[in-house]
This record gives sequence, C-alpha cells and structure tokens, in this order.
Amino acid sequence: MIKTVKGFKDILPEENLIRSFIESKGVEILEANGFKKITTPVLEKTELFLRSIGETSDIVQKEMYTFEDKNGDILSLRPEGTAPVVRAFIENSLHTKPETHKYYYYGPMFRRERPQKGRLRQFYQFGVEVFGNEAPLTDAHTIYVLSEFLKKINLQNVVIELNSVGCDNCRPVFERALKTYFSGKKEYLCNDCKLRLDKNPLRILDCKREGCKELKNESPSVLEYLCEDCKEYHFQVKKFLGYFNVKFIENRFMVRGLDYYTRTVFEAVSEGLGAQNAVGAGGRYNNLVKEIGGKNIPGIGFALGIERLVILLNEKLVVTSGPDFYLVILGEDSLEKGVEIYKNLTKQGFKGEFDYELKGLKNQLKKADKFGAKFALILGEEEISKGKIKIKDMLSGSQQEVVMEDIAESLRIN
Ligand code: HAM
Repeated sequence: MIKTVKGFKDILPEENLIRSFIESKGVEILEANGFKKITTPVLEKTELFLRSIGETSDIVQKEMYTFEDKNGDILSLRPEGTAPVVRAFIENSLHTKPETHKYYYYGPMFRRERPQKGRLRQFYQFGVEVFGNEAPLTDAHTIYVLSEFLKKINLQNVVIELNSVGCDNCRPVFERALKTYFSGKKEYLCNDCKLRLDKNPLRILDCKREGCKELKNESPSVLEYLCEDCKEYHFQVKKFLGYFNVKFIENRFMVRGLDYYTRTVFEAVSEGLGAQNAVGAGGRYNNLVKEIGGKNIPGIGFALGIERLVILLNEKLVVTSGPDFYLVILGEDSLEKGVEIYKNLTKQGFKGEFDYELKGLKNQLKKADKFGAKFALILGEEEISKGKIKIKDMLSGSQQEVVMEDIAESLRIN
C-alpha cells in the first residue's frame, strides 16, 4: 500500500476541528488589532531563502526541499513565511499603500528535519509581519498580540521569553567575545558547534547538547554588549510590555535559528511539548526588506506552529464533534415532513444528520448514539398528526414532546 511521505501527515476531521478553532480565534484577535490577511505561494526561488534566512543556518544548509525546474530555475518549498511576505511586500509595492502594514498569513511550511513529537516536514504556521517603523511600541504590541492569541485559545503554561540580539554595530563585538570564550573551550564543544565557532558563534548558545549547554552558562551575556541605542530600545520594549500587561521572562541565551533578526527576539515556550517546546517565535528584522531588494523598511513578526498548539489543546480541549441532532424518521410517510424539518434546522446553523435507510426506531437511535448526536428528534405519523416531535437527550436519556415550531428553541435551550 502507498503511504504518506515521512514527516508529512493527513489531517483528519477531528484534528481539523481544533485547527479551525485555532484559526478562527487567531483571525478574530488579529483583525481586531488591525492585521490583514496575505497569502503567498508555497514555492519560491531558492535565492530568496539564501539571502534572508542565512547560508549558514540549519534550514538552508540541510532542510530545504529544493529542485531544479524544467527551465533551470532553482526553486524551494517555503521553509517559513517571513521571507515570502517580505518579497510580496516589495514586489507589490505595498509600502506605497496608505494603510498600516500589518499582515497575517496561515499555511503550510516545509523543512526536512528529523520528525519527532511536534516536528514535521510539512507543518502549518499562523504568522504575522508588521512593516514600516522601528518603534519599541510596535515590538510590544506585536508580542501582546501573540500573548492574546494564546490566551484566546485558552493555552496556559506558556511563557514568553525575550531577548535582544543587538544590531550591526554591537553584535559583531558580542560575536567576537563569544568566539574568544568558546575558543578556549573548543575541545568540549560538539562537532556542530566547532563549525559554528568560525561561521556563526551566536548559534552555539542555541545548542541543545548537554556539554555545550553547560559551557554557555559562563559565557558572556549579550545584554552587556548591547550598544547604548539597543540597550535603550530593549528597555523601552520591556516598559511598554508592562503597559500591555504582558508577562515575560528574559532569556539571554535566545538567539533564534534564522539570521535576519536584529534587536528584539522572543519565543512562546510551553512545558508540555518535550524537546520541541516553542509554540511560536519571532523578532525584529530591520535589514531584511533592504537585503531582499526593497527600501530601507524595518519589520517585525512572529509565527505560531499549529501542530504544536494542537498537541497542547488536544490534551485539554474536549471537542464535541457530534451533530446537534439526529433526525429519526419512522417510515416513508414521515419522510417529506422530515426533510422539511432537517432543511429548516440546518439552515438555521444546527449541525444535523438523518437516516437514509429508514430502518426501525431502535436501529436509528443506535446510529444517533454512534454519531455522538446531542439530541435525537423522533418523527413518525403519530407525531405529525399532533403537529409535534419527540426530542430525546442522548446523554441523560430524558425525552419530551414539543410542537414543531419550537424545535429550534428547544435545541437552543438544552
Ligand atoms: P521559527 O522559529 O523557525 O520562526 O518557526 C516558528 C514556529 O513554527 C516554531 O516556534 C514552531 O512552533 C513552528 N515550527 C517550526 N518548525 C517546525 C516543524 N518542523 N514542525 C512543526 N512546527 C514547526 C519562523 O519561521 C519565523 N518566520 C517567524 C517570524 C515571523 N519571525 C518574524 N516573523
């Protein structure tokens, strides 16, 4: 039998219920905060990601699905959404539009990582990007939106971690300090970090191996190397987060796996996810628009991993997927009236099922139970002649007779 590709998965109806819940809550909170939806293709020119995410990053080094198209173009399935949105922002001259440039997107991303709990090769992100200004208030508002999103879907035990990775002026100084520190301990570093030492020493701080993690505890702190402007900016972001009443903790080791960040970086970290504990992450990118070929326009954003949210919600959210009612129709003589009632209720937004085979009462009630219906509506000639219908509460077993006109009202009250 032919199976799905490793790291790719089918999303079945039950999970789709949770995903729709997340998406609708997300849209609600983002639109309330002035964000507008943008959708970009899943396929982009590979160069876009080389220029943005960074040639030494794990994503570009080993995780992209890249192929040569028949005309010789080198293309990649997008591993993330920021670079494509920046490309769309430039290509469609969106900066010339007199609106605030706050966008959100939802869709699949592709990274050829080793699959594990909360880590897939095709995963969905709900992301936001804000362009046009470099003001600490934008950072605070963006992080507030992230925390509101998580609140709206009732996720507890998620902590927002915050750091600054400095700017073009102060980061090289910090990188040199890290290099000096880790060079003295090179023999204890893992092989990957030995390579990072030359190419991107910041990424050593992100290493999950025990030996490297121990070494970093004594390493120089980025906060001591920030230039005065970055220090002041970071201070303001924290102050404004207080105005928004967003709780956060500072994590001076957070560096992120994408190279485009400047100054503010943040992650939403959860306890219930094991190694892949970031449900969402983001940061400021002041040079990215320019690096991709646009004007000197700063940006900031974040993306949430939907599968990780689903894992966390699945553990606490009881989603009742059953219909509101199952219409039991006792014989063909009751069918016409039954269809009328079914149409009427579903048009009003009730979720319903009815029996196609019109077998006996017992058989149909069994099906109502199997479907997980909240109520069985029982309709036979006797009920029709009285202008009534029987409503059976499938959980308690209690039954009542109501006049036809009151069916919707009864379903609502119960
Ligand atoms: P990222 O940290 O690479 O950032 O990914 C954001 C989120 O996507 C992660 O926190 C995680 O929840 C989810 N995620 C990443 N990789 C996987 C995977 N293999 N399987 C399942 N979930 C995954 C970005 O992608 C940036 N573009 C975020 C951003 C937006 N920065 C600024 N704007």
